[in-house]
Amino acid sequence: MTARFSLIPGKTRGHRPRLQMLCMTLLIVSILTACSKTSTRADTTRGRELYEFHCAPCHETPPPDLLKEPPQLKGLFNSKALPSGAPATDEQVRMVIVEGLRTMPAFQGRLQEPEIRDLIAYLHKM
Ligand code: HEC
Repeated sequence: MTARFSLIPGKTRGHRPRLQMLCMTLLIVSILTACSKTSTRADTTRGRELYEFHCAPCHETPPPDLLKEPPQLKGLFNSKALPSGAPATDEQVRMVIVEGLRTMPAFQGRLQEPEIRDLIAYLHKM
C-alpha cells in the first residue's frame, strides 16, 4: 500500500508515471519561467545593439545628403503622435520599420520579427 505512492523510481507501478509526469511538468515550467525572465532582460540589450547598428547612423548622426533630417527617436512614445502625425503606438512604429517611410528605408527582410520587438522595447526606454 505505501509502496504505491513511493517516490523512489523502480519500486512502484501504479501512480508513479503520473507523479513523474507532474514532476517533469513542474521542472519544465520552472525552466521556461527562468528562461523567459532572462530573455526579457536581454530584449532591450539586443534592441540597443540593433538600434546602434541600423537606426543610429541616420537618427543620431544623419548623413548630409538625406532629403529630410530624421527625427530624434528619444522619448518617441512620450507623446501621442509620431513626428509624421501618426499615432505613437508599437504597431505604427513596427509598420514604419517594416515598410519604411518616404526617405526612410524599409527593413523588411533585414530585421526579423523578434528583433523588431526588441528594438521597439528599447525605443520605449531610451
Ligand atoms: C537612411 C536613414 C534612416 C535609417 C537607417 C532609419 N531611419 Fe527612421 N527615419 C528616417 C527619415 C528620413 C525619417 C523621416 C521620414 C519622413 O517623415 O519623411 C525617419 C522617421 C522615423 C520614424 C518616425 C515615423 C513617423 O511616423 O514620424 C521612426 C519611428 C523611425 N524613423 C524609426 C527608425 C528605426 C527604428 C530605425 C532602425 C531600424 C530607423 N528609423 C532607421 C531615416 C532613417
